[in-house]
Amino acid sequence: MSRIAYVNGQYVPFAHASVHIEDRGYQLGDGVYEVCEIRGGALVDERRHLERLSRSLVALRISSPLSQPALHFVLEEMVRRNRVRDGLLYLQVTRGVARRDHGFPEQPVKPALVVTVRGLDRKKIEASAAAGISVITVPDDRWGRMDIKTIGLLPNALARQRAKDTGAKDAWFVDSDGFITEGASSNAWIVTKEGVLVTRPSSNRILTGITMTVVKQIAASLQIKFEERSFSVQEALAADEAFLTSATQIVMPVVRIDGEKIGAGTPGPIAKRLREVFHQSAEIGRKLI
Ligand code: PDD
Repeated sequence: MSRIAYVNGQYVPFAHASVHIEDRGYQLGDGVYEVCEIRGGALVDERRHLERLSRSLVALRISSPLSQPALHFVLEEMVRRNRVRDGLLYLQVTRGVARRDHGFPEQPVKPALVVTVRGLDRKKIEASAAAGISVITVPDDRWGRMDIKTIGLLPNALARQRAKDTGAKDAWFVDSDGFITEGASSNAWIVTKEGVLVTRPSSNRILTGITMTVVKQIAASLQIKFEERSFSVQEALAADEAFLTSATQIVMPVVRIDGEKIGAGTPGPIAKRLREVFHQSAEIGRKLI
């Protein structure tokens, strides 16, 4: 069965899907995106992702390409048409097509919407989660509005590549005070020696993850001691557990930071538990295939 992309109002064969060379996303990184998990043929936490998309669009003064019900229809239709049971949906909105100029187009242009869907190998991800992953730390040299989910991901891409070059799976950003901000495409967490779950509070320095929001709720319902505060690299290295959260990795145990073992060097009980129960608290949409 062939893969289908959604591009500006049309469902097209993936191999022929294209956008204009003067799309402002392509030339200026002038756009926003969302990534939503597909599990068992259903979208996970779609409502929250669309709410965050709206906030990102408002922050950049890009108008919504479709009404909420129309967008919801397209997302579901994309899962149906691609028949993806386990995978991810990628949605991108850019300001649209205009002659290259840094300022916004003087004549309003239609925002451009692209949606793709792809399968993920759940067994492979589960194997990673069972073993845990290693991360490196890199200086956080990104801009000051990380709360907006923009497609301008060059520092994130460079950080991920640096991790890969050193044999690690991912990178965690560190601010100029030595505190971890977040991962290259995830939020960062630790469990201290005292059993306290810690993650950095929402601010313009991090993206407030949807997974993070749900995990906080789960921690409260499981009565896990929780503190929302910054933590340093030193504190992370001395922690009992570390893990990251994102829509594609859910709760992913981190067993090494900069080559040093965290806790016993194996996934910890709190990360494992949060991963096990995550989908009981996430909002699962209707089954589409
Ligand atoms: N990234 N922080 C950053 C910088 C991210 O890019 C992401 C998600 C998160 C976690 O957000 P959520 O839990 O809503 O996925 C935090 C997606 C998965 C990506 O870029 O592929």
